[in-house]
Amino acid sequence: MIHPRNLPAMSALFIPPDYFRELRREEVCADPARPLEVELGCGDGTFLAGMAARHPEREFLGIERMLGRVGKTMRKIESGRLVNARVMRLESGYAAGWLLPAAAVARVHLLCPDPWPKKRHTARRLVNQEEFLNGLARILEPGGEFLLKTDDPPYFEDALASLGARREFERLEWPEDAFFYPVTDFESHWLALGKEIHRARWRRMR
Ligand SMILES: C[S@@+](CC[C@H](N)C(=O)[O-])C[C@H]1O[C@@H](n2cnc3c(N)ncnc32)[C@H](O)[C@@H]1O
Repeated sequence: MIHPRNLPAMSALFIPPDYFRELRREEVCADPARPLEVELGCGDGTFLAGMAARHPEREFLGIERMLGRVGKTMRKIESGRLVNARVMRLESGYAAGWLLPAAAVARVHLLCPDPWPKKRHTARRLVNQEEFLNGLARILEPGGEFLLKTDDPPYFEDALASLGARREFERLEWPEDAFFYPVTDFESHWLALGKEIHRARWRRMR
């Protein structure tokens, strides 16, 4: 495996070579031998940069649709000289459903997703979308994991129901401090307000 120090300098921004076909693993990863982790809706990049700094032996791709937040994530990656992290400006459902390579992702993180609290908007929750759930099953490698944190109980219930209804996924325990897992920007905010954070973890069955 190549040490990240020896990789050529890359932009923190990932622009896919083609938006209209499934990418190959080597088009997404600087070093395809390293496990790939994807964060959907990475916001300001606090979690992505924290993970990339702690795990130089893994690759990280953040996906975020808001330009300003893509910029903040890029600045964190660049100021930390994190050659194993990049961010792509795109919609998560499309990236998971159609663009990212199949059976190539070791972990997908969805942290404090937009809750869409109004009843008429619940179909917009990623975990309620068929395209997203199919995409999640498609991109995770066998034994790969999906990790979710949310402050929103109805979102959490929807996630448990949606993932629980699919044979591809098996729920795993996720004890506090099971592994290094940086607190995200939104999570810090909710914790400071005394909110409870719900979390769940699933494995893609072989
Ligand atoms: C509530 S914020 C949480 C940000 C970050 N995960 C955190 O915990 O600090 C949700 C983020 O997801 C992004 N987002 C929401 N839906 C998205 C989608 N379908 N595709 C890409 N990004 C999305 C938003 O722009 C926003 O930055």
